[in-house]
Amino acid sequence: MRQGLFNLKASQYAASIIGTGSYVPDTVISNSYLEEIVDTSDKWIVSRTGIKERRKVLDEIATSDIATKAAIQALNDANLDPIELDMIIVATVTPDMAFPSTACLVQKSIGAINATAFDIEAACSGFIYCLSIAEQFIKSGSANNILVIGAEVLSKITDYKDRNTCILFGDGAGAAIVSKSKGYQILSTYLGSDGNGCDLLYLPAGGSRNPASIETINKSMHYIKMEGSEVFKFAVRIMETATEKALELCNLNKSDIDYLIPHQANIRIIENAMKRLDLTEDKVFVNVDKYGNMSAASIAVALDETNKMKRLSNGDNVVLVAFGGGLTWASSVIRWL
Ligand code: ACO
Repeated sequence: MRQGLFNLKASQYAASIIGTGSYVPDTVISNSYLEEIVDTSDKWIVSRTGIKERRKVLDEIATSDIATKAAIQALNDANLDPIELDMIIVATVTPDMAFPSTACLVQKSIGAINATAFDIEAACSGFIYCLSIAEQFIKSGSANNILVIGAEVLSKITDYKDRNTCILFGDGAGAAIVSKSKGYQILSTYLGSDGNGCDLLYLPAGGSRNPASIETINKSMHYIKMEGSEVFKFAVRIMETATEKALELCNLNKSDIDYLIPHQANIRIIENAMKRLDLTEDKVFVNVDKYGNMSAASIAVALDETNKMKRLSNGDNVVLVAFGGGLTWASSVIRWL
């Protein structure tokens, strides 16, 4: 019988990222395409959000399909066999279905027969929530290798008649292997939430509150609803606070940040965080122009693209920071080794 998760020797290990991967679909939704379907303009979108284009999956593709592609890349990067995985955690607001979990579907696709698999939902903060959960299991000695994934097919819950939201979102998936082995070391993770902000960003129907019905469909209740300017104000405030909290947890401060990977929702939110944290442009990752907001996949894809850029040096302190529906927020400090 395989070893249960809690049967491993309990001792303190460092948790490190030993491989990353990502996938974005080929189909590009440009601002000029959106100009044709809603009352908007490329100029408005670029100046208010920084987004030039985003990606969209084909109709028959679901979240587990793109999550699997990112997972395989991360496993290859880590030189790890799927049977060596103890756990798979997927963060998503667009699961293939309510159950089984998307993580179980990925487990089947990659043949990770020794893993325990489950999903978590923390909207755009979800990938860092996964990292934090994985960190705890590795540090306690309860697991050796954990696959964490942020994957979204937001195009399927986006209302392409609503100019307030359809310009923002895109599809993609990113993955990382968190391990007891040596790699980019997770120095800290910090998580937070405030359910009082639950009505600022939500998807009204399809759950037990408003099950799917002809009425919910006619009222477009299966699409994202958002109070954009309220989310904006919250985001600007929380990016700084959450970054400082994660730094504090590992006895670092703002001046120790070598590179910031912020959630990719809006270039103005990123620039604001950059200013508040006294960072120059070259120290901040940006791909919001290419992909828009991919919710839980944003940080995951950004982490993989940062890894592939091979720009960072040994010992650099990299901060991940995100905010999202819930409201939720999360941050992490990683030492590049
Ligand atoms: N094209 C043209 N005009 C538009 C568009 C558009 N696509 N969208 C809105 N407008 C109009 C509005 O109707 C409004 O017009 P009015 O003044 O006549 O009423 C005007 O532009 C200004 O609207 P605001 O909402 O005040 O614009 P703002 O500068 O706040 O930008 C935006 C809107 C881009 C949505 C911004 O508020 C934002 O980025 N908020 C954060 C959103 C976010 O990060 N969401 C993701 C959360 S993550 C998750 O968990 C999924």
